Amino acid sequence: MGDKKRITSSRKLDHLRICAEKVVECGDSGFGDIRFVHNALPECDMGTIDLTTRFLNHRLSSPLFISAMTGGHPGTKEVNARLGRAAERFGIGMGVGSQRAALENPSLEGTFSIVRDEAPHAYLVANLGAVQLRDHGIEWAERAVSMISADAIAIHLNFLQEAIQPEGDHNARGCLAAIGELCREFRTPVIVKETGCGISAATARQCWGAGVSAIDIGGWGGTSWAAVESVRADASRNIHDKRLKSLGEDFKIWGIPTVVSLAEVLASGSPVIASGGIRTGLDVAKGLALGANLCGMALPLLKPAMESDEALDRTIDVIHQELVAAMFLTGSETLADLKKTRMYITGRTWQMIEKDNQARIMR
Ligand SMILES: Cc1cc2nc3c(=O)[nH]c(=O)nc-3n(C[C@H](O)[C@H](O)[C@H](O)COP(=O)(O)O)c2cc1C
Repeated sequence: MGDKKRITSSRKLDHLRICAEKVVECGDSGFGDIRFVHNALPECDMGTIDLTTRFLNHRLSSPLFISAMTGGHPGTKEVNARLGRAAERFGIGMGVGSQRAALENPSLEGTFSIVRDEAPHAYLVANLGAVQLRDHGIEWAERAVSMISADAIAIHLNFLQEAIQPEGDHNARGCLAAIGELCREFRTPVIVKETGCGISAATARQCWGAGVSAIDIGGWGGTSWAAVESVRADASRNIHDKRLKSLGEDFKIWGIPTVVSLAEVLASGSPVIASGGIRTGLDVAKGLALGANLCGMALPLLKPAMESDEALDRTIDVIHQELVAAMFLTGSETLADLKKTRMYITGRTWQMIEKDNQARIMR
C-alpha cells in the first residue's frame, strides 16, 4: 500500500478511537433553547403512535438516521456490521463513512459492503468527499454506490477538517460544479452533507440549484472535527503537525448551530436531514417539529456500536421511547401532527434565526 493510501485508512481508525475516548463534542446545537408547548389533554394513545415516514421515495420505520461514521480500515468492519444490523432490525436509514479509503484500495471494500450484507433491506447512503468527487469524477461515485448497493449518495463537505488536518486538501474550487454534474448525470439521488459546521441559507440555495435531492445539515454543536483533528495533531511526533493543535482548538467554536442551520436550509427547500448534536429522542422530536424529514445521530451511536449489538439496540430503543413520549405529550399521533405542534424558541438560537424564518417556524 502506498503512503497516501495507508494514511487515509489508518486515519479512519484514529477517528473512531479519538471519538470514542476523548472529548470531541463542543458548542451548542440550539436544541436546549427549544421547548414544546405541553398538551395536558393529548387525546391520543401512546401505544399507537406512528413513527413511519417516507424519505426520497423510501418507506422507513422511523425518522432516526444513523449518520455516516466508518469503514475504510479492517478494524472498523465489525462496527459497520453492528450498525448495519441495527439499521435492518429497526427499519431505519444509515450512511456509511467516507468510502475514499476503499476507492483508493479495493481490498478495503469489505469494510463497507458488510453493511449491505447485514442490512439487505435498509435504506443505505454511500459517502464521498466533495474534493474526491471533483478529482475523480462520477466514476468514483458509481463505485461507491455499487460497493454497498446504496439508495443514495452523500457528498460530504468538511473544509474545516481539511483546513486543520496535516494532510488536508486546501483547494475547494470546483466542488459545486462537480456536485451539479453528478446531479445531472447520476440516477441515484445525491445528498449534500456537512460534517459539523452546518449549511447556511446561501449554501443551501447553491445546493438546491445544483440539483441535489436532499441536504444533511451536519450542524455545529455535536462532534467537532476541529476537536478531533486537534487531538490528532497533539499526538503527532511531527513538529509541523503539532502546530495545528492550536488551530483546531481555536476553531472549535466555528460553525452554524444545528437549529439555526435547519431554519436556514428549510427556507429554500426540502427534504432535509437534521444532524449535529442531536443527543436524545427529544432532540429528534424538536428537529422534526422544526421541519426536518429525518434526524441523524453519529457519536451517540458510536460507543454502543463499538460495544455490542445489545448495547446499540438499547440506545436506539431509548431514543425511540423519548421520541414517542414527546409525541404523546404534544398530542401527535403521526410525524405530520408533530410538525404542527407549537414550540417556544428562546435565547441565542432565537436571535440567530432570521426574522422571515422565525415567522415560518412559528406559523
Ligand atoms: C467517528 C466519526 C466518523 C465520521 N466520519 C464521517 C465520514 O466519513 N463522512 C461523513 O460525511 N461524516 C462523517 N462523520 C460526521 C457525522 O456523520 C456527523 O455529520 C457529525 O458527527 C455530527 O453528528 P453527531 O454530533 O451526532 O456526531 C463522522 C462522525 C464520527 C463521530
